[in-house]
Amino acid sequence: MASDTDPRTGSGPSQSAFLKACRRQPVPHTPVWFMRQAGRSLPEYLRVREGVPMLEACARPELIVEITLQPLRRYAVDAAIFFSDIVVPLKAIGVDLDIKPGVGPVVADPIRDRAGVAALRRLTPDDVPYVTEAVGALVGELGDTPLIGFAGGPFTLASYLIEGGPSKNHDHTKAMMYGEPGLWADLMGRLADITIDYLKVQVEAGAGAIQLFDSWVGAVGPDDYRESVLPHTRRIFEAIEPLGVPRIHFGVGTGELLGLMGEAGADVVGVDWRVPLDEAVRRVDPGKALQGNLDPAILFAPWEVVERRARDVLNRGRTAEGHIFNLGHGVLPTTDPDQLARLADLVHEVSAR
Ligand code: CP3
Repeated sequence: MASDTDPRTGSGPSQSAFLKACRRQPVPHTPVWFMRQAGRSLPEYLRVREGVPMLEACARPELIVEITLQPLRRYAVDAAIFFSDIVVPLKAIGVDLDIKPGVGPVVADPIRDRAGVAALRRLTPDDVPYVTEAVGALVGELGDTPLIGFAGGPFTLASYLIEGGPSKNHDHTKAMMYGEPGLWADLMGRLADITIDYLKVQVEAGAGAIQLFDSWVGAVGPDDYRESVLPHTRRIFEAIEPLGVPRIHFGVGTGELLGLMGEAGADVVGVDWRVPLDEAVRRVDPGKALQGNLDPAILFAPWEVVERRARDVLNRGRTAEGHIFNLGHGVLPTTDPDQLARLADLVHEVSAR
């Protein structure tokens, strides 16, 4: 793979604060980006999405490029994240699903038996030509700013497929995980394969880092995580390792899993707002950077509160070998974008070395 560093100037994404922090190298300031920085909190997003269903937007390169770039025009963030959704690769291999506004992914025929699992095939670049095209165009537009590619983690994807939609208790998912371990392993193995295929498409097209969002894996305890999830996640991270890009791993409510999520092979462990970063440092093995973790709801409080809490996150983050400032989960749709703009600037000012 060609180096992204310009030998004359030493610039290029590989010199960015974001990628350096992922690699636990010295940085000029703590890098910052926001999960779900693109999306419904931005009026310009609502305008371009008008009349375009979510999955259609995810398949139109010019819309993907525009929506990915929108937050970068407002916020001094250190990275862009590819605009898409975790169910896009599943749709691309033929799973009948949709994203319903205000609900999330909905699967027409939930997968609960051997035949359903067996129908999940591997993904090829030809299944997602719009991803290759959009990533390539974005990398050209972004210059020195790295693009984060992403995929859903295997537990979270399995939950959507098995439940048929969003779920509070993951009843059917856990019924399969505990009751039909062979079928569960087959499903998770296939989801890992699809995820590897999909992340490779993004990295080969130019994504400079990847994040695996296993958002709902916090529903599983440590022993079951180790036995039923970790081997599949590890296989994903091992397959991406030779591509040489940092691998970020994030889930919600994963305080008890942080060490294991690092062990699965992430370079950067994402932390939600429930575990202070200095405590997360104690829970994760050495040799990992941390990402997080301001409560996204803090942004509804007056600026003085946001500032005090952001400084606290930065202070605690200094105990990590590398820290990427982020929220503890995605930007909430009613967030005032001006608060986020101020927050990105504050992180840079306070952390400037
Ligand atoms: O800016 C970014 O971070 C990139 C965009 C992004 C989207 N989905 C766009 C989106 C990312 C990274 C995702 C990942 C995703 N999708 C996750 C993991 C991250 C997380 O939040 O934990 C999950 C669990 C999903 C599944 C999903 N898709 C949900 C829960 C929803 C929200 C449903 C709703 O309407 O409240 C979606 C739809 C979705 N994905 C939207 C966006 C902008 C909203 C759809 C719309 O604008 O109509």
